[in-house]
Amino acid sequence: MQLLPGFRDLFPDDCARRNYILSRWRETALRYGFVEYDGPVLESTELYRKKSGGEIVGQLFDFKDKGEREVAMRPEMTPTLARMVIARERDFRKPLKWFSVSQFFRYEKQQRGRLREFYQLNCDIIGEASLAADAEIVALVIDALRAFGFTAHDFVVRISDRDAWLSFLQAKGVDAGGGQFLQIIDKLERETEEATARKLGEFGLNLGEVREFIAEPGVHFERFNQLAADLDARGMAGFYRLDPTIVRGLAYYTGLVFEVFDRKGKLRALAGGGRYDNLLRDMSDGAVNLPALGFGMGDVVLGELIADTPAAVEKWERWRQSAAEIYVVIAKEDRRSDAIRAVQEMRENGLRVDYPLAPAKVGKQFQNAEQLGARFAVLFGDEWPAVKIKTLATRQETTLPREELLGRIQRLAP
Ligand code: HAM
Repeated sequence: MQLLPGFRDLFPDDCARRNYILSRWRETALRYGFVEYDGPVLESTELYRKKSGGEIVGQLFDFKDKGEREVAMRPEMTPTLARMVIARERDFRKPLKWFSVSQFFRYEKQQRGRLREFYQLNCDIIGEASLAADAEIVALVIDALRAFGFTAHDFVVRISDRDAWLSFLQAKGVDAGGGQFLQIIDKLERETEEATARKLGEFGLNLGEVREFIAEPGVHFERFNQLAADLDARGMAGFYRLDPTIVRGLAYYTGLVFEVFDRKGKLRALAGGGRYDNLLRDMSDGAVNLPALGFGMGDVVLGELIADTPAAVEKWERWRQSAAEIYVVIAKEDRRSDAIRAVQEMRENGLRVDYPLAPAKVGKQFQNAEQLGARFAVLFGDEWPAVKIKTLATRQETTLPREELLGRIQRLAP
């Protein structure tokens, strides 16, 4: 009865951490005026074979369903989003700014930062060709990380432009196989020099000229420079840099692409994205021709970076402590029904309240309150018909008539 490799049991602490990540993501996307959507977990395998391309196709959790359909658990959101937009594009004003927070499945080799099941925040803008949209998306990826307490010392967005590489190829007189060439560049950091040199040889190119282009990208990255000006105006100058080696593994990208990494370079990518201006057109045989761009950010590497960054841990701890705000301590069992009435009253007024289901020593109840991270204890005991409020962090106590409890606690724990 063992857990499958690459899958996670989320015990309450893990679940709280997962929920923290998901709620910060939602908050940030909403702040940028994005609206939430979702799609099915299962799609026809065809969708990914044709549209994602690259490594992902070999990592599908795919099978035949009982109706003999070839289906796959979703490994990413972008093809689903494109399918949905094509189906009802006319119903929405452009540009669409849509986000989703959902679970994905890839049959990858389990390693640090890579599991077979993970969550992603996906944010995409559809129907806007101008660079303003690229800047908005990169700013959003930066703020989605700043929401966790990270600064420019913790992560960096590495930005590139696929078209710059395609013009490099053109300048070298190579006019076919752009996609295959980009795959070589995508694997540059992961493959041996010999293997890379051999593959480049098939295009009549050598590693030297590729390295030269990376070192002196010059005029080919004009679009990057314009994007940089927009980001700088937002005060985001330290958060990104040009990196021609980023070309992205998925087949549908066109134009600007980016990946986000931790500054120490210890972890795998936190997020990745870019433009995919032709995907909707290709998927709809030309019927819907809308430019598009976006990114996906995963929860696994992000969780590791949080654990590694003291400021982010502190922020998470503060969030967690707001979970159980009030613990009602029943110091005298004959006050239990008065206590429960007060619990109910506070809950109905939106407060988070817990109390002991069975009789227990007062000391034990306080221990419980602290373990749950409660901020206040409310005592029902000898003081009756008054009650006592204790602020757990400062040990400060106030005794007040029972009727004043709700008003006072609402002011203390808004
Ligand atoms: P991706 O680069 O394949 O892009 O994934 C984005 C992020 O998802 C990665 O940077 C990583 O944090 C996380 N991720 C991917 N695979 C795994 C895994 N096996 N385990 C844990 N985390 C993982 C896409 O998926 C594109 N559809 C993103 C996009 C949206 N592009 C445009 N719009």
